[in-house]
Amino acid sequence: MKRMNVAMIGYRFMGKAHSNAWRQVARFFDVPIEPVMKVICGRNGTEVRKAAEKYGWQEHATDWREVIERKDIDIIDICTPGDSHHDIAVAAAEAGKAILCEKPLANTLAEAERMLAAVERAGVTHMVCHNYRRAPAVALAKELIERGELGQIYHYRGTYLQDWIVDPNFPRVWRLERAKAGSGALGDIASHSIDLARYLVGEITEVASLLETFIKERPSPDDPTKRLPVDVDDAALALCRFENGAIGTIEASRFATGRKNYNRFEINGSRGSLVFNLERMNELELYIEEGSNSGFRQVIVTEPDHPYIAAWFPPGHIIGYEHTFTHTVLDFLKAIDEGRLPQPNFRDGLRNQRVLAAIERAHASRVWERV
Ligand SMILES: NC(=O)c1ccc[n+]([C@@H]2O[C@H](COP(=O)([O-])OP(=O)(O)OC[C@H]3O[C@@H](n4cnc5c(N)ncnc54)[C@H](O)[C@@H]3O)[C@@H](O)[C@H]2O)c1
Repeated sequence: MKRMNVAMIGYRFMGKAHSNAWRQVARFFDVPIEPVMKVICGRNGTEVRKAAEKYGWQEHATDWREVIERKDIDIIDICTPGDSHHDIAVAAAEAGKAILCEKPLANTLAEAERMLAAVERAGVTHMVCHNYRRAPAVALAKELIERGELGQIYHYRGTYLQDWIVDPNFPRVWRLERAKAGSGALGDIASHSIDLARYLVGEITEVASLLETFIKERPSPDDPTKRLPVDVDDAALALCRFENGAIGTIEASRFATGRKNYNRFEINGSRGSLVFNLERMNELELYIEEGSNSGFRQVIVTEPDHPYIAAWFPPGHIIGYEHTFTHTVLDFLKAIDEGRLPQPNFRDGLRNQRVLAAIERAHASRVWERV
């Protein structure tokens, strides 16, 4: 079988999730290309060596530029914070590598534009890791909508709620720093709700919005006696108009006390509705209008004819968060093999970034902004 060498930059949260995906994909799916976990890269030599051993990478390195220059590396997997996505992706494109990049694509619209231009100029395969598209229940929702089962779509209601910074003494980590993260809840989690909206309903054309930062200073992670400014949003709310006439709301917050990773959407159409909630990710709540006995029902999305499921376990043997990443790398490898672009790719990443930028503009202007 054809093999391709992968180099992954960044080795913490997403590094762990992506390592698992690269390791498992060929164990469960009939992949057209066997990914080889060649090099893991990070800035701290001791830590990255430990990560290489634990996650199963053949080699470790501390300079991503040197890794990208290596002739034996075929795929660059970007698992670092947003402030390095642009430089790594552009260098990887210029070196002719296929690129899987974590979301949001970039920290600014200008960076996202340059990244897309670089991959298109180089003609390399590119993908953004909006992994929730590949929860089987979400992929099933897409099939149902495409088949017209919900009729004309009127509403998209996306909420992505967490509570990990409710404590005002939680340190000012990189996700709370604009220079590193680009924005707060907006780019981090609303970007997923925007991706799901674009995937399931269509393009967003216009937004009105409200951003809020509740805690404006927090202790430094390095020295708790020092306080540092928080210059990103803690919560983001947007009203959206879609190209196809649907309307929607997107709400993302890290102050939704009790909500841990509540990534939920509800879609209402002329013939039916559906609801997905990541915290019950093997289920899809479905309502199809069938007269007086219709009602919401729970579809357990673990049947062999449901998306991605046949490769896993018998019906009812549920799967989890990590599988969404395995499905992402599977589709990335298939796209490389078939010489086509996977989705979502950097074009989607740029469109997503345009929505994020319009939401920030609408907050500042207090008027509706076109995307
Ligand atoms: N798809 C998802 O659901 C999802 C979930 C979490 C995070 N993310 C995204 O993944 C990316 C990484 O987030 P994370 O949660 O893994 O962060 P993290 O803090 O857990 O890990 C970041 C890693 O990048 C390394 N790093 C930071 N700057 C670097 C640089 N300049 N050069 C080389 N290495 C560098 C760090 O040492 C660390 O290993 C972000 O873009 C984030 O938005 C996506």
